[in-house]
Amino acid sequence: MTQDQAKELVGRRAAEQVEDGMRVGLGTGSTATMFIKALGERVKAGLKIRCVASSDASHRLGQSLGMEMLSLKELPELDVYIDGADEVGPRLALIKGGGGALLREKIVTSAAAKFLVVVDSSKVVPVLGRFPLPVEVIKMALPVVERRLSQLGLRPKLRQHADGSVYLTDENNYILDCACGSIPDPERTAAEIRSVVGVVEHGLFLKMADTALVAGDDGVSELKA
Ligand code: 5RP
Repeated sequence: MTQDQAKELVGRRAAEQVEDGMRVGLGTGSTATMFIKALGERVKAGLKIRCVASSDASHRLGQSLGMEMLSLKELPELDVYIDGADEVGPRLALIKGGGGALLREKIVTSAAAKFLVVVDSSKVVPVLGRFPLPVEVIKMALPVVERRLSQLGLRPKLRQHADGSVYLTDENNYILDCACGSIPDPERTAAEIRSVVGVVEHGLFLKMADTALVAGDDGVSELKA
């Protein structure tokens, strides 16, 4: 099974778990896109749900599929948030933000009673940190935050597009991708990053996910926090 096939499989499986009347948070990224498309098919077939997305891109995708897309102001409580991840570690500790939406993702998941993670098996790791940890930063604070994260040994690098222009999040902030390597104590790393003034949010999602659906050659398996 290719990685794309695994993403599609797990996206479909997650879409099957959504029930009539649910308030659903839609994630961001290629796996979340597969999920949203599969959910869109169910909506076309008559499923009645209301949704809030964690990015402008997923909001537009939901709208294009005829889904009822709302803001958190209109729908501040959700039954479930369904999204991908860049890494899934022990106890469902996650690295997220590869797609740049970590801030809104954390906000939308905090509004949800349950967080269901959808990944292909390549994302499951024994220790977090192979994937560079994204940190969202207020623009004017960049030099200060960059220096401080470097002093913490986190090796930050400003995210850029392929053409060299600086990447901006939906909230108009910068992202520093930290090639910090193995993160044996994610709580400690999260606390260190959070203590830096000018950091808006980091991509460590700890004690947030309830269940992960993992797609691989043997089908879809379930991990619990
Ligand atoms: C976006 C995210 C994504 O969930 C994460 O990057 C995984 O993406 P993909 O499903 O494309 O591999 O956190 O900010």
